[in-house]
Amino acid sequence: MPRVVEPDDAAAFWEGRYAQGRLYGTEPTSVALRLALLFRRERVASILEAGCGSGRDALFYAREGFAVTGLDLSPSALGWARECAARDGLDISLLVGDLCASDLAEGSFDATVAIHLIHLQPEPVRRAMVNRLWLLTRDGGLVAMANFSTEAPGFTAWEPHPEPNTRVDPKGKRIHFFDAEDIAALFPPDRFDLLTCEVVDLHEVPDGGPVTHREWLTIARKIRAC
Ligand SMILES: C[S@@+](CC[C@H](N)C(=O)[O-])C[C@H]1O[C@@H](n2cnc3c(N)ncnc32)[C@H](O)[C@@H]1O
Repeated sequence: MPRVVEPDDAAAFWEGRYAQGRLYGTEPTSVALRLALLFRRERVASILEAGCGSGRDALFYAREGFAVTGLDLSPSALGWARECAARDGLDISLLVGDLCASDLAEGSFDATVAIHLIHLQPEPVRRAMVNRLWLLTRDGGLVAMANFSTEAPGFTAWEPHPEPNTRVDPKGKRIHFFDAEDIAALFPPDRFDLLTCEVVDLHEVPDGGPVTHREWLTIARKIRAC
């Protein structure tokens, strides 16, 4: 029976895993490639990647010329990212911390991104994290996320968890699979203008080799506070 990740031990769980390897490789995800084009069109300068892990996407954004801050619970994950940044001469800010507790300044990023972070959380935390991304994004800036969809094969194949639409993956991670209503509910219309809300194939090359996931790509504009 795999150990289920609970919020209290997420830092220990992730540190233990990244202490053994980079986990998610060095190739950027297909979603990061798409977001970089949008960010350039939108004249984004500063990006926060929350839950950046070992930095495959954060380093890609830095290579593309954006001013990037990567935040993650795991010092070892950021150690992998630092090693790559030093090797490639990239300027990037890498911070150990919890998205919900970090002391980053409100409204300080043109865009905030969370790839495979929100779907790991139980319900009150999912909403709290999206609110936190909203707070850290400047008025009119972008909040982008990728999270597993109920169309992903794991939804039918993996061990059920008592929470609705939630499964435990073979590595012991609790994963919430979103349907259309569920994902839209994360973006209250008084705070977000939802620009993109679609199920896409996210291609990635983690340490185990290339995989594709069916997931929700959501991109929203932070509505300017009145
Ligand atoms: C599935 S991994 C994805 C990593 C990265 N986004 C990627 O695509 O390579 C989820 C990451 O979220 C981080 N994480 C989990 N909870 C977090 C939190 N509350 N604050 C910051 N990072 C968190 C974990 O340490 C882990 O690196």
